[in-house]
Order: sequence, then structure tokens, then C-alpha cells
Amino acid sequence: MDRLGELEELANEIRSCTLCRLHENRINAVPGEGSGSSGVMFIGEAPGRSEDEMGRPFVGRAGQLLTELISLAGLRREDVYITNVVKCRPPGNRDPLEDEIRACLPYLRRQIQILRPRLIVTLGRHAAKTIAMEAGRSFRGMTRERGRSYIAVVAGVEVTIFMTYHPAAALYNPGLLERLREDFMKIPSLLSPAKRGATLDDFL
Ligand code: URA
Repeated sequence: MDRLGELEELANEIRSCTLCRLHENRINAVPGEGSGSSGVMFIGEAPGRSEDEMGRPFVGRAGQLLTELISLAGLRREDVYITNVVKCRPPGNRDPLEDEIRACLPYLRRQIQILRPRLIVTLGRHAAKTIAMEAGRSFRGMTRERGRSYIAVVAGVEVTIFMTYHPAAALYNPGLLERLREDFMKIPSLLSPAKRGATLDDFL
């Protein structure tokens, strides 16, 4: 089976998942979308209302901004893969809980193993913390980590990790939006083999 077939098979598993309480109130699970052919994977926090209604990631206002930022990075939305740490909407858009993240993590790991991305861009604190832990290090807060990259092994895949803010946080904060734009403009250089991030050892 090809990569997209494997992803779709996994998506069907996610759609029928009952591993945590979030399945009780969902309209749709939101596995993720995109071909990932550019080698770039974006990881957000959890689906919101619009995503829950449509079963697609980042389709609300934060999603519109993400789509704009992706083109600012010289990429097309359909060529990246977009997913979240947690695949079902937490009630009232609350933060996902530790046990919900833990229950959902095997799906994210398998998505990474199937896609084998060259670059993972984490959007916001939850994704940054989750991926940092998967890379075997602690997360030292958005202010210190944002806009930096390093190479690490995540779910058995060597990948450049780049952490930035969540687009939703920039919707009402022009300063943050500017920094988010700056970060997205670094993406092309992170994809060029000569300029990939520092190694984990360099970063610590
Ligand atoms: N926020 C997220 O973190 N993910 C989405 O899919 C939508 C909004």
C-alpha cells in the first residue's frame, strides 16, 4: 500500500477511536490532511468547532491564517500535512488534558512514521511540548524555543523540528503575527539540506 493509502487506513482507525473521553462529544474526529509531498508536517493542538463540524484540520479563522502563512513559506497547503496532537475537539475548546494527549499520541507517532517528514513545525505550546518530549528533551517555554530548529529522532524518524506560535494566538495580536510571519519565512531554508537545524547537542 502507498503512503496515502496507509494514512487513510490510519485515519479510519482514528475516526472510530474510543480511547479517551473526547470521542463522546465529537461530531467528527479530525485525523489530518494533505499529501506531505513537500516533506513538511504542521502539528497544532486540537480541533476547534469548525474542524469538528467538517472533520478537517485548521479550517476556521486560525486555519485561514495558517493557509496564508503556508503560502508565505512558498508552499501549497495541499503539499504539506496538517494534523493536531489530539484528534477530537475538547469540549468548549479547553486545553487537551494529559491523559487525552497520551491516549492520542500513538496516532501522531504512526503519522510521522508513514510520512517520514523532513521538517515538523509545531504550532503553539501543546504541540511544542509533546514533540520535545518525543525527541527526548524537556520543553523550556515558547519564548525560549520559538523560531529555533534542531534535528532529532521522533518516532524513529530523523527530522528537523521547528517550534513557533499557534496562529490562533496571533489573530488578535499584531506583534505575535509579525513574529509568526518571520518564523514561517525561515521554513524554505530549513528544508535546504545544507542549512538544516543544529543537532540536539548543539541546541542544549
Ligand atoms: N486549532 C488547532 O490547534 N487545530 C485546529 O485544527 C484548529 C484550530
